[in-house]
Amino acid sequence: MSEERLSLGKDLVGLEHLSAEQLQMILDTAEPFKEISERRIKKVPVLRGKTIVNLFFEASTRTRISFEFAEKRLSADTVNISSSGSSVVKGETLVDTARNLEAMRIDMVVIRHGASGAARFLAERIPSNVINAGDGWHEHPTQGLLDLLTIRDHRGPLQGLKVCIVGDILHSRVARSNIYGLRTLGAEVAVCGPRTLMPPSPEEMGCTVFTHVEEAIEWADVLNVLRLQLERMEGGYVPSLREYNRIWGVSSRRLEAAPRDILVLHPGPMNRGVEIDSDVADGDHSVILNQVTNGVAVRMAVLYLLAGGQPEKAEAAKQGAES
Ligand code: CP
Repeated sequence: MSEERLSLGKDLVGLEHLSAEQLQMILDTAEPFKEISERRIKKVPVLRGKTIVNLFFEASTRTRISFEFAEKRLSADTVNISSSGSSVVKGETLVDTARNLEAMRIDMVVIRHGASGAARFLAERIPSNVINAGDGWHEHPTQGLLDLLTIRDHRGPLQGLKVCIVGDILHSRVARSNIYGLRTLGAEVAVCGPRTLMPPSPEEMGCTVFTHVEEAIEWADVLNVLRLQLERMEGGYVPSLREYNRIWGVSSRRLEAAPRDILVLHPGPMNRGVEIDSDVADGDHSVILNQVTNGVAVRMAVLYLLAGGQPEKAEAAKQGAES
C-alpha cells in the first residue's frame, strides 16, 4: 500500500490549519535552501519557467523584497504590482485584477492586502497558487514560519519552549500566525501587553496572558516583540508612546533580570524606543536580522513545495537535478 505524500495543497493562506508534519516539512525544506543565498552566484534552476506575481496592496520592505529574492534565486520570472501603480486606483476589483493576471497565464500570486480574508478570497477564485503575505489582522504565515525557523536554529526543537509575544496582539497578523505555528509544534505560548491591545480571549487560543512585561521576561525562553501598529489605531489604545515604552518596552535593564538567556525576535519594522530599545534590538539577545535572512529560505521552501517540489529532493533540486 503506497503512503499518501505530505503536501501543502494549492495555497498557503495561514498556519491555523497546518499540521505539525506540514510545518516541520516547510522548516526542513528551508534548511538546504539557506545555502543558496551564501553563494557568489545566487541562482538555481528550481522554478525555471514559473511566472509569479507579487501583488502588494500595502507597504512592505522585508516581505516583498524577500519574496522577490526567493523567486529570483529559484529562477522564476517575477512581476511586482502595487495598488498605487495599477488599475486598482481606477476602481478595479481584486478579483478582476487577478483574473486579468490569470489571462496572461501566471502560476502563482503572492498577495498582501489590508482586508482580513483577502488571500483566502482570491485562492478560492483563481487556479494559481496563492500565498498570503499578510492580510489585515488575520495571518502572516511566512513571517510565522521564519520566526519558527529562527527560534529552532537558536534553541532547538520547539516542543516545551516558552515563547511570549509582547505588544500589540490585537492588530497583529504576526501574533496569530506565531500562536498557531508555535502551539501546533508544542511550544508554550503567552501574550503580554495592554488590555486595550489584546484580542477578546487569548486564553481560547491556548495562550497564557501577562499584563506586566517583567512577568513575561521572568517566564519566557523567547520574546517575540511586536510593533505598535500606529497605522491601524485611531487613538486611545495607549496613553502615549512614551508611556507605552515605560510600561511595556523591552529594555536591556529589564532583560538583565531574566533568569535565563532570553532570545529576542521582532518582525520589523521596529519603532525603536517604543516597543523595543535600541540596545536590545542591536544587542546579544537579538536575532532580528537572522529572522530576515531566514525569510528568504522559508519563502523559497514555500514556493518550491507549492510548485509540487518534494521535500526530500530539495537538496538535489538546488544542485540542478530534476525534482
Ligand atoms: N515583517 C514584515 O512583514 O515586514 P514588512 O512589512 O516590511 O514586509
